[in-house]
Parts: sequence; structure tokens; C-alpha cells
Amino acid sequence: MDKDGRMIIYTLLLAAISGPVVAKEWTANVVNELEALVSSCVVIPCSFTHPGGHMSSSTLRGLWHVSRHLDQRIYYDDKSRVLENYRGRTKLLGHLGQGNCTLEITEIKDHDNGPFCFRIELAPTSSGTLDKFSFVQNCAKLIMQPDPPKPEMNHPKTAIQGHPFTVTCTVAHTCPTHAPKLTWSRGTEDGITEVHRKTHSGIWEVQSILTFIAEEKDDHSVITCTSTFNGGRSSSETLTLFVKRTENYNHIIIPTVVGLGTALIFAVFCLFMVKKYKNRIAALQSQEGSVWNRISRLSRRARPVEPEDGK
Ligand SMILES: *[C@@H]1O[C@H](CO)[C@@H](O)[C@H](O)[C@H]1NC(C)=O
Repeated sequence: MDKDGRMIIYTLLLAAISGPVVAKEWTANVVNELEALVSSCVVIPCSFTHPGGHMSSSTLRGLWHVSRHLDQRIYYDDKSRVLENYRGRTKLLGHLGQGNCTLEITEIKDHDNGPFCFRIELAPTSSGTLDKFSFVQNCAKLIMQPDPPKPEMNHPKTAIQGHPFTVTCTVAHTCPTHAPKLTWSRGTEDGITEVHRKTHSGIWEVQSILTFIAEEKDDHSVITCTSTFNGGRSSSETLTLFVKRTENYNHIIIPTVVGLGTALIFAVFCLFMVKKYKNRIAALQSQEGSVWNRISRLSRRARPVEPEDGK
């Protein structure tokens, strides 16, 4: 049995005897399974303890390898000793001095399944022995997602005209260092808030909250939320908006106002016409009068002549 094997058994025995009270032993806390989107990235949360007491990051060397194959390194300080396939794609995000062995893998390929295990190497002690430990019992397996997950939209069934309407769009991911970007089909003049949170170990979600005042013209319009993942893959979800009109009496008020207005204009017009006619009639009457007068004057003048003619 090799040294690592003995170490594991020793640790397990010690853990069984002393329980969780003993913290400074070889322990690792690695997420067992994590989904990873092909072409995107993944962050594997990992923390560990070692019996070396407090040690700075420079006296610790971490490495990640494939399952039990210590020589198949996917992450190591010395890049030349990393599997070619993983070279430049892995990065240790955590500070080893803080017991943080969190690993990032970018440009995920569909064969990056793992399981990936962490190994820690402590700088030689005064006695000259180099302590190493592979946490092969706590490895992370990656489950490949060939297609990006669809965002989920949540909103009230109907919007009310003139009132604020809120839609949320949420998408889960496993790469907090390059989180997916959520965008809306509606213009940016609307209020958009973004929230990032961890839901489980290694699983995160981004939520975008869109708020706008629903208008009549928005009825039956389509709103799309698009999630663009690191690496360029995207997915989207849509909703059709139904706007409920607010109760108003415009359908009664408008015809009434128009009707009353028309009646008023007509009344004013009639009054005006009557006035105009009155003047006309008066004028005509006076004109008629003068004509009449003239006629009667003429006839009066003519009458005395007749008897003269008759004489
Ligand atoms: C480990 O490091 C990562 C990356 O810096 C960080 O996000 C995470 O919170 C750390 N974990 C702990 C337990 O401190």
C-alpha cells in the first residue's frame, strides 16, 4: 500500500475515533457533482484542512488531478507538468493559505467529466519530510450540459394599464467568475435590476428584474429575456403581455362631451342667424316702408290730377 493509501486509512480511522471535533487533520470539502456547460466555464468550490498548522500559500502547493491518476494533472504550478489538454484552462482561485482550493476550468469540453481530485503538498518540515495528501475520497465529477439551460420568467398574469409591471428572469449557472448576462427585448429606458446569488454549493443564479409602466400599446406585445453564457452560447424565454385597461368612462364621457359641444355650437349659430335675420327683416321692413311711402305719396299726388283731367 502506498503512502497516500495509508494516509487515507489513517485519516478515516482518526475521523471515526475523534469525530468532527478534530479540525486540523487532512480533510477536504469538495462538491461531488456539478453541471458544466460545454464551451463555458465552471468553478469547483473546494476547501481543505491539513495538520501542518498555519501555513502561508507560498509553503503550500496544490494540484488537481484526474481521479486516482496522480500523474494526470489538470492543475499544477509547473504548467509543463499539466496535461496538454488542460494547459491554460485551469486556475486556482482560492488561497491555499486560507484552506481554499477552489478551481476554475474554462472553455469546457464535453470530455472534461473528471472526477477531479485535489492534492496538497506541504513544504518540508524541520524533520525534512514533505507532507502530501491526495483527497481522492472527495473528488468532483462534472456533468456535461450540451445546451444552455433556459431562463425562467416569472410575472403576474396580467398587467394593469398605467400601473408598474414587474417580470423576473432567472437562470442557473456554475461559473460565478463569468456569470451569464441577461438581456431584455424591451428598451433600456425601463428599470432593470440584477441580482447574483448562490443557491447551492457551486450552483449560482442570476436574476434580472424588469419593471415598467404598462400601457395600452403593450397589450399582446412579446417580451424576451435572453441569457448569454460565457463562451457565447445563449438561450431565451418569452412572454406575451396582456394589459388590462383601467376602468374609465371615456366611452360615455367623450360622446357626451362631443354631443353637448355640437348642440352648443348649433344653438349659438341659431341665435346668430336669428339676430342677423332680425336686422334683415327690420331693414327690409324699413325699406318696404319707404317704398310704400313713396308709392302712397305718388298715388296721393296723382289722385288730385284725375279730377282735373275729368274737368
Ligand atoms: C474560496 O475562494 C473563492 C474564490 O476566490 C471564493 O469565491 C470563495 O468564497 C472562497 N471560499 C471560502 C470558503 O472562503
